[in-house]
Amino acid sequence: MIPRRTLNNLFSRIEPSLTSLRLKSTSASKDEIDHFQELAPTWWDVNGPQRILHLMNNSRLDFIQRITRQGVKITESDTYIPGFNYKDFFPSQISQSIENDIEGKINAKLQDVKYDVLDIGCGGGILAECLARLPNTRYVTGIDLTPEVIDAAKVHARKDPALDGKLEYRLQPLEEVEGTFDLVTCFEMLEHVDVPSEILRHAWMRLKPEGILFLSTINRDLVSWFTTIFMGEYVLKVVPVGTHHLSKYIKSSEVKDWFKKNEPKTHIVLDTKGVMYRPFNGWVEHNCADIGNYFMAIKKIG
Ligand SMILES: C[S@@+](CC[C@H](N)C(=O)[O-])C[C@H]1O[C@@H](n2cnc3c(N)ncnc32)[C@H](O)[C@@H]1O
Repeated sequence: MIPRRTLNNLFSRIEPSLTSLRLKSTSASKDEIDHFQELAPTWWDVNGPQRILHLMNNSRLDFIQRITRQGVKITESDTYIPGFNYKDFFPSQISQSIENDIEGKINAKLQDVKYDVLDIGCGGGILAECLARLPNTRYVTGIDLTPEVIDAAKVHARKDPALDGKLEYRLQPLEEVEGTFDLVTCFEMLEHVDVPSEILRHAWMRLKPEGILFLSTINRDLVSWFTTIFMGEYVLKVVPVGTHHLSKYIKSSEVKDWFKKNEPKTHIVLDTKGVMYRPFNGWVEHNCADIGNYFMAIKKIG
């Protein structure tokens, strides 16, 4: 079931081959577009072929909101923030009151925060719609290269008047997007492109200073093959056969190495979390981000 060529390919994939370097493009391959085009009509069926993405949505929204919230700094001198783990040290009443004070200040600050978001490879908008509904979102621009999928996204968004003026979908390659964004998201998409480094490079260019790039993809290892292809596509059939290709998976270390090499002084990896699907619990985070699916948040500094 694993072609020999794929097994031989278990070396760094994030840097383009000589052929793909010549293309230097963020475009999608015809095979991928054909594949996603077939899934467009059932994109919003929560029990259909994209069920696994629907189930993943809350986990990724939790991850995004947790990371953005952690970035809110309390500067008021009347708020005491101990420089140690106060919850283990103080009696619960005192630590609870410190926590309430900090959380209240963060909430107050968040009232004034509004993010412009670019969602790359937005598909039918499962993540983009929910991002647009968050109180701290000003506007979401979703881009994708599968026409039928963008149509499905537009049709679905029209059903919710609350999304009016907060969400736009475009059939547009990443390198043609103009402007900069506070948050750039790229979920479950990098493993479908031929030259992931080009997506990272252009995504980074679209990020404002202090902005955050959020991505999720799949480590290239045999555990991922077993869980996402063998079990996911062939045994449990929660993902359509042919969705994934082990040779296109990207190790979390490769993403980090790419940033170290190309953006050595302008990035901080804020967090990397492994995520796994448990048939009866949905998607859960864990601390082993080098195996299977993972989420990553990278902040632009300077
Ligand atoms: C698995 S879906 C993920 C959709 C969405 N991000 C989500 O998680 O709900 C992958 C999407 O990436 C899109 N895609 C693939 N290659 C792309 C590229 N080079 N540029 C933009 N979108 C691309 C596909 O058309 C498809 O809609």
